[in-house]
Amino acid sequence: YVIGVDLGTSAVKVLLVDKNGTVAAEATRSYPMFHEQTGWSEQRADDWVDGTIAALRELTEAEGMDAAVIEGISFSGQMHGLVLLNGEGNPIRNAILWNDTRTTEQCREIERTLGEKLLSITRNPALEGFTLPKILWVRENEPEVFAQAELFLLPKDYVRYRLTGELHMDYSDAAGTLLLDVAGKAWSGEVLDAFELQASFCPSLVESHSLVGMLLPQYAERTGLSAATKVFAGGADNACGAIGSGILSEGLTLCSIGTSGVILAYENDKSKDYAGKVHFFNHGQENSFYAMGVTLAAGYSLSWFKKTFAANESFDELLAGVGEVRPGAGGLLFTPYLVGERTPYADAAIRASFIGVDGAHERVHFVRAIMEGITFSLNESVDLLRSSGKQIHTIVSIGGGAQSPEWLQMQADIFNTTVVALENEQGPGLGAAMLAAYGCGWFDSLSECAEVFVKHAESYAPQADAVQTYKGLFRVYQQVYTQTRELNQ
Ligand code: XUL
Repeated sequence: YVIGVDLGTSAVKVLLVDKNGTVAAEATRSYPMFHEQTGWSEQRADDWVDGTIAALRELTEAEGMDAAVIEGISFSGQMHGLVLLNGEGNPIRNAILWNDTRTTEQCREIERTLGEKLLSITRNPALEGFTLPKILWVRENEPEVFAQAELFLLPKDYVRYRLTGELHMDYSDAAGTLLLDVAGKAWSGEVLDAFELQASFCPSLVESHSLVGMLLPQYAERTGLSAATKVFAGGADNACGAIGSGILSEGLTLCSIGTSGVILAYENDKSKDYAGKVHFFNHGQENSFYAMGVTLAAGYSLSWFKKTFAANESFDELLAGVGEVRPGAGGLLFTPYLVGERTPYADAAIRASFIGVDGAHERVHFVRAIMEGITFSLNESVDLLRSSGKQIHTIVSIGGGAQSPEWLQMQADIFNTTVVALENEQGPGLGAAMLAAYGCGWFDSLSECAEVFVKHAESYAPQADAVQTYKGLFRVYQQVYTQTRELNQ
């Protein structure tokens, strides 16, 4: 067996996976998020560690479980979050998360300082969610805190560090910091120098399937795992989501709708130029990359609506009847900019809207409009990839968006392409388990592992009428941003 740990934004989920890729057991622990001010989003790094230990303990305490059969463990992590450590290796403040948007000023500063080098080295624009702007924010706003900072880590690297005592970061997660020379696979001396950061501020870089150590005895004890369990580096959640969906060669594309939503296309060519319009990151598979567009409030839009208007109902109850409302939600249109938007606008200030509300609309129209609005937002990324020359024939859909047949059909109709779901889909946790399986030598490559672990389920073909309806609505959707952005500037 191997274990995949998926350190998400709302919870950590651990999967126990056998050699056939079958999930034998799973456990979850959630942890709080703190929003001290509008746009701020933080978590306690040690809550991740406690949650991970508790979830692992639940697995190892299950009846009949012999921890000695667990050969390896690896990680998928929420990206970009800043964990600052002091010289003793302890966090000196809460972690600032990927969905925190306080750093607009620092992004402008990065653009001014690096100019064209920003894109040529890091391959990405300066966005509030990324790590370097957060580092600069702490330095500028909390100098006495920053003075204690010796090193930074990303969320899953901190958890792995606690469990093993080893400090590392893998390329797929490092790519989201704006400090990595993405094509050259090294911390960029030029970027570090430009912001007067020491090389020792960055942990050593490894591949996602690299063995980084073993569990420290006290953590073996607390988790119930054997101290001989091999620990592999792991990767960014989007990279792991792609691995767990078999997105490991040219021509394959992923749609993942979790708290955030992404459209991710595999990329072989390290010099492929998307001009910063989509993110360009190292994959969790050696020497490969992916291009990705992000919708900040994807599943979050639905959970916001549920929390606000249907707190006591389940998601199934909330979604009941959306299949009976025709494409277009009776003229009701939603833009999902609840916390700003990444792709294509990179605008942290814009906010969401419902337009076209009719006195006859019921709650179900709002729910359908939210699902369509999230999918329109993701279609902006599909469009950008297509217009950069990417062929998109089939999209593998995972996450909350793949739980509902209506939403899968909607994706096929809005993206105008075949959409495939996975059998027993497990999200990024399976990708993390695959990194451990490959690291343990069960397979010669991640692709070989995917042949065994990743199983396609039903596919959804675009339906001509709905495609036409959505094409028209998408044009209206795109105008909402330009026509309403002034409201929030
Ligand atoms: C990607 C991003 C999110 C997080 C969610 O750039 O910010 O998808 O990875 O964990």
